[in-house]
Amino acid sequence: MLIRNICCIGAGYVGGPTMAVIALKCPHIQVNVVDTNKERINQWNDDDFDNLPIYEPGLGEIVKKCRGKNLHFSINVEEMIEKADMIFISVNTPTKTKGVGAGKVCDLKWVEKSARQVANFSKGHTIVVEKSTLPVRTAEVIQLILNSCQNQSKLEFNNKSFDVLSNPEFLAEGTAINDLLKPDRVLIGGDNPEAIESLRIIYKRWVPESKILETNIWSSELAKLTSNAFLAQRISSINTIAALCESTGADVREVSRAIGRDSRIGSKFLDSGPGFGGSCFKKDILNLVYLAEYFGLPEVATFWNSVVSINNWHQHRISKLIIQKLFGSLSGKKIGILGFAFKANTNDTRESAAIQICKDLLEEGAILLIHDPKVEKKKIDQDLSYENKYTNSWNIVDCVEEALENVHAAVILTEWQDYSNINWHEISLKMIKPAWIFDARSIVDKQKVLDAGINIWRIGDGST
Ligand SMILES: NC(=O)c1ccc[n+]([C@@H]2O[C@H](COP(=O)([O-])OP(=O)(O)OC[C@H]3O[C@@H](n4cnc5c(N)ncnc54)[C@H](O)[C@@H]3O)[C@@H](O)[C@H]2O)c1
Repeated sequence: MLIRNICCIGAGYVGGPTMAVIALKCPHIQVNVVDTNKERINQWNDDDFDNLPIYEPGLGEIVKKCRGKNLHFSINVEEMIEKADMIFISVNTPTKTKGVGAGKVCDLKWVEKSARQVANFSKGHTIVVEKSTLPVRTAEVIQLILNSCQNQSKLEFNNKSFDVLSNPEFLAEGTAINDLLKPDRVLIGGDNPEAIESLRIIYKRWVPESKILETNIWSSELAKLTSNAFLAQRISSINTIAALCESTGADVREVSRAIGRDSRIGSKFLDSGPGFGGSCFKKDILNLVYLAEYFGLPEVATFWNSVVSINNWHQHRISKLIIQKLFGSLSGKKIGILGFAFKANTNDTRESAAIQICKDLLEEGAILLIHDPKVEKKKIDQDLSYENKYTNSWNIVDCVEEALENVHAAVILTEWQDYSNINWHEISLKMIKPAWIFDARSIVDKQKVLDAGINIWRIGDGST
């Protein structure tokens, strides 16, 4: 089946960039990205390409090229479903907060709603593609919903048919466009070779065939969870070694460099930092934990759960260390926070280590001056406003200088390039002495900070 019209349900961090790249590479396909969030859609349609709802290097240029030609953003969910030959479900799948499996299993209500919408409004044959990250065997649920509607529609003499494919997304925020243009692999899970071929033809326009992998649908779903679990596991592993380095006088950068040279280990994802964040790692591991428990494998569940608990422990460890270096009390002390996004080159703060560390510092009575070049002020306010506590205890500032004026310490939590070029000699004059830099991202020049008369703590540096 040759695809001419795609609908993507969900205009978020995955739906938006993924569909922009498909539109760029397949000018013969009309791509409609739909979302129930009107504000988000308005931002996607903003005349100023700096106001897109998602910040990703290179995204604005692609949207500029394709929007209004073969890439469209709207809230007309039903209409666009009706027109589509292929529908990507790219909606949010956060961890359930109540009921059975709360805190572990992901809440499928948005996926289920999307499947029902597809079942109700699609026409003719439709290929439904799971783009969201889903627990193993979700395709079965989607197929069940679609089938039940198929039976109904037969009664109404309106024949519909569906194929369900799994096509998990492996992009990383901050490098999404590059990851989409040059993926390590594209994974397609399914059982109908014709449907698989329809999706394969789309990717083949820019991805070498050897990188397009086919699996059965359950392997595809599990591979995505496993991939994120392995990545997060590396971060937790190196962060435990950072703690050990600090106690023993070793340096985690040197340890990483040494072990990364082993081709069996590889050098990527070996940077110690403030702990992993983002919307996916924790949620996907917790899903894996739930699956293991459900299938009677408690040892497997415990193993993966420890990756998340080490991450939590590590974030609190950094907060405690700051308190200890500042003489055991933060009451009334001003602290500059550099970076709030969970990593550089994104405006996403979901599960950012900055949220937990800032909350810990606020709990100790600190007054925070927070800077981030891309995160909106209202997002930071939302993330820190919990139980209406400490609402007057932080200020969001526009520049680094303002964040470091009259502060006792600066805490670097996101590796924005600008933070590695700070003139510490100038800043030092404005800080309260003894002043401290807590560099949780290893991006400042330690010697320059020391020369400026400022104390420094670096993650995993046993000599500071
Ligand atoms: N963010 C990432 O880096 C990343 C990477 C790979 C995979 N994933 C997975 O992709 C999925 C989407 O993630 P995201 O970060 O894009 O989420 P997101 O929250 O940014 O976007 C999801 C969008 O779906 C919309 N939506 C929900 N239900 C809808 C419905 N019935 N009709 C229309 N719109 C609806 C929401 O309004 C929201 O804008 C998740 O399963 C996630 O785990 C995310």
